[in-house]
Amino acid sequence: MALITGLMAELGMTAPVIQAGMGLVARPPLVAAVSNAGGLGVLGAANSNTATLRREIAEVRALTDRPFGVDLIFPSALTSNLVDFVAKAQDHIADLDEAGSEAIKEVLYVLEPGHIEDQVQVCIEEAVPVLVSALGTPAAWIDALHGAQIRVFSLAGTLSQARQLADGGVDAVIAAGSEGGGHTGAVGSLSLWNACVRSLEVPVIAGGGVVDGRTLAAALVMGCQAAWVGTRFVASEEGLAHENAKRRILEAAPEDCVITRAYSGKTMRVVRNDFVRSFEGREHDIAPFPLQLTAAGGRSVRGLRGGDVAQGAVPAGQGVGAIDSVLPAAQIIEQMVREATAVLADSAVTSAQRA
Ligand SMILES: Cc1cc2nc3c(=O)[nH]c(=O)nc-3n(C[C@H](O)[C@H](O)[C@H](O)COP(=O)(O)O)c2cc1C
Repeated sequence: MALITGLMAELGMTAPVIQAGMGLVARPPLVAAVSNAGGLGVLGAANSNTATLRREIAEVRALTDRPFGVDLIFPSALTSNLVDFVAKAQDHIADLDEAGSEAIKEVLYVLEPGHIEDQVQVCIEEAVPVLVSALGTPAAWIDALHGAQIRVFSLAGTLSQARQLADGGVDAVIAAGSEGGGHTGAVGSLSLWNACVRSLEVPVIAGGGVVDGRTLAAALVMGCQAAWVGTRFVASEEGLAHENAKRRILEAAPEDCVITRAYSGKTMRVVRNDFVRSFEGREHDIAPFPLQLTAAGGRSVRGLRGGDVAQGAVPAGQGVGAIDSVLPAAQIIEQMVREATAVLADSAVTSAQRA
């Protein structure tokens, strides 16, 4: 039995696995390794300036001739307190350590007027195969992107967002359930995938909690056409993350991966640590996004980049319980597909029917 869905066939994929566009982690070596293995690698490019984006696209193309994607955020209505944030952040930069001031500068850069227009323009000029919008809506750019033969996928954390995105013309919706690592919503994966598959006409991609062949099989059984996989690829050889962060993912149990606003002011699922604990019971002291980024003083990047896993964020989903080794991305994909195929062919239900 071969796992083939319509979306895979359209993109020339041989594995129903799309690697999530994770900031810091999903750089060209990981993206190309996933695409070379038959999945779809996606550059986490939200924080990239246009020169970096263009260079990384070229690096991916030097490593693979397979399709890949670019993940951006569309933060037009992201924050009502932007002016306040910019002023406060600029005051704080001098007081922060290097990682802290870099983190704030990156956020300021993403929020700068014109930033997203410039990034989209690079994607159009480079004719990237897929653009993923991780936040907000790309509706205003859909015609231009489609005109350049670029497919557009968008993340949704609720059914109403998913409907709006589908109505806005995206080619597929990534239903990102609460179990997932990083910024996440409140609706559980199973219920969100199910509601989206039932009510949308566009293909649905399952996000949040897919880490192995069993969970991939579950997503396909639900009617999803591929999975959007983040945490599993942090623990890959090609994933760019400090070895302490990878080790935390191998050690963590599902219940260790909790939602906190301590790092950015927005709900983010991370491995619980001293910094997260220090805000438990005093959540009212957490500033709204993005102001909390300054209060967190760069800790949002210090776990993955610097390996400070006691204070810095290690974003990870509840699927960690099934991750016990750091492997090459190709091996992760090969195992996922092999296990999903076996599970689908020999599930308890089909065995019982056969007996
Ligand atoms: C380390 C890490 C970094 C992430 N960074 C981003 C990001 O920069 N942009 C984004 O849209 N999502 C980001 N996410 C969320 C993923 O895109 C994805 O929705 C999630 O990882 C899927 O669930 P899973 O972790 O259970 O596979 C990140 C997730 C992780 C684990």
